[in-house]
Amino acid sequence: MSASTTILVTGATGLIGFRILIAALAAGHTVRFTARSEGKAHLVTSNPAVPNFDRLSCVIIPDLTVAGAFDSALEGVTYVIHAAAPVPMPYYDPMTEIFQPMEKTTLGLLTSALKTPSVKRIVITSSVIGNLGVGPLPTIASASTRTPLPDPFPSSFGNPFEAYTLGKMVLLHIADKFTKEHNPHFAISHVVPGYVFGRNELALDANMMQTHNSSNNFLIMGILGGEPPYPVHGHYIHTDDLADVYLRVAFRDPEPGEPKDFGAAIKVDYENIFDYVERAFPKAVAEGVFKRGKVLTLAVEYKGDDVEKLLGRKPKSFEDAVLDAAD
Ligand SMILES: NC(=O)c1ccc[n+]([C@@H]2O[C@H](COP(=O)([O-])OP(=O)(O)OC[C@H]3O[C@@H](n4cnc5c(N)ncnc54)[C@H](OP(=O)(O)O)[C@@H]3O)[C@@H](O)[C@H]2O)c1
Repeated sequence: MSASTTILVTGATGLIGFRILIAALAAGHTVRFTARSEGKAHLVTSNPAVPNFDRLSCVIIPDLTVAGAFDSALEGVTYVIHAAAPVPMPYYDPMTEIFQPMEKTTLGLLTSALKTPSVKRIVITSSVIGNLGVGPLPTIASASTRTPLPDPFPSSFGNPFEAYTLGKMVLLHIADKFTKEHNPHFAISHVVPGYVFGRNELALDANMMQTHNSSNNFLIMGILGGEPPYPVHGHYIHTDDLADVYLRVAFRDPEPGEPKDFGAAIKVDYENIFDYVERAFPKAVAEGVFKRGKVLTLAVEYKGDDVEKLLGRKPKSFEDAVLDAAD
C-alpha cells in the first residue's frame, strides 16, 4: 500500500466505518470522512481511539441522497470506502428509511465520482444477504453471486428486513449496470461481510453497547441473558480483520479474471459464546455482569472464507471477536 493516499470513508460514525477510519489512519493514509451532522462528526474526532488528527478531516453532508451530495467530498480523493447505510431496525420505514437511502446514496456516489478524475476505486459495502437474495437459496453463494431481482420489482416492502435484503441485492446490480453503461475511469469492488463483531469504541457506555452497537447487539444480548428475536445467520468477521480487508481491496489491482468482490464471512455457531466469556471473565460472570443468553444460528451456506488468502494470515478467531466485544 502506498502511504499518504487520501481515502474517503462514509459511514465512519458506525461500527464498520469507524474501524476502517482508524485502520486507514494507522496505516499512514490521509482520511476524509462524511458525517450527517457536526455533532456526529464530533463523536468520531473526539473519540480517544482515533489517532493522527492532522491527517483526518470531515465533510458534513446532511443528506447523502441529494444529487451531487458527494461532489466536493470527493475532490482529490483516490479511494472511496462506502460503509454508510441503514441497518434494518424494526421501527424504520422500509422504503424511505432503508431501501431509498441505500439506492440513492450509492448511485449518487458513483455519479459524483464520474466527475472526479482522482478516484481510482470505490469499495461498496454489501452483505451476504445481497448474494443470498429473497428467493430459493442458491446452492452455495459467494461474493460474485448475483441473484435475479424480482420481476416486477415491488413498489413497497412488507418489513424493514425485506427492504434491506432487496436493497443489498439492488446495489450489486446497480454497480454492474453502472460499469457497463458508463465504463467509468475508476474500478468498483464490493466487500461482503457476514455479521461483524468486535470492539466498538463508539459505544460509550453499557447501555449503548446494547442499543448503538449494530451487529454487536446480538452478541451482547447473548451474553447478557437475552435472546435475539430471530436466528442469526452463522457467518462472522472480526471488525479489525474487516477493516484490513477493505483497505486491501481498495488498493488491490486484480489481474484479469481475478475477483473484484470479496466475501468476509467465516462459518460459525453461536452456541459457545457464553462459554468464551465465562472462561475469560469469571469474576464478571460470578458478579452477574454477564449472564448466559441464547443466540440461535440460522444455517445457510455461504463461501466467504477467502479472507485468509486476501489478508495473507489467519483471520482473528470468533472467540477473539466475542471477547473483544464483551471487553
Ligand atoms: N454490521 C454488520 O454485521 C454488517 C454486515 C454486513 C453488512 N453491513 C453493512 O455495513 C454497513 C455499515 O454497517 P454498520 O454495522 O457499521 O452499521 P452502523 O453502526 O449502524 O453504522 C451505519 C452508518 O451508516 C450511516 N447511515 C445510516 N443510515 C443512513 C442514511 N439513511 N443515510 C446516510 N448514512 C446513513 C450511519 O450514520 P449516522 O451515524 O448518521 O446514522 C453510520 O455511519 C451497512 O451498509 C450495513 O448494511 C453490516
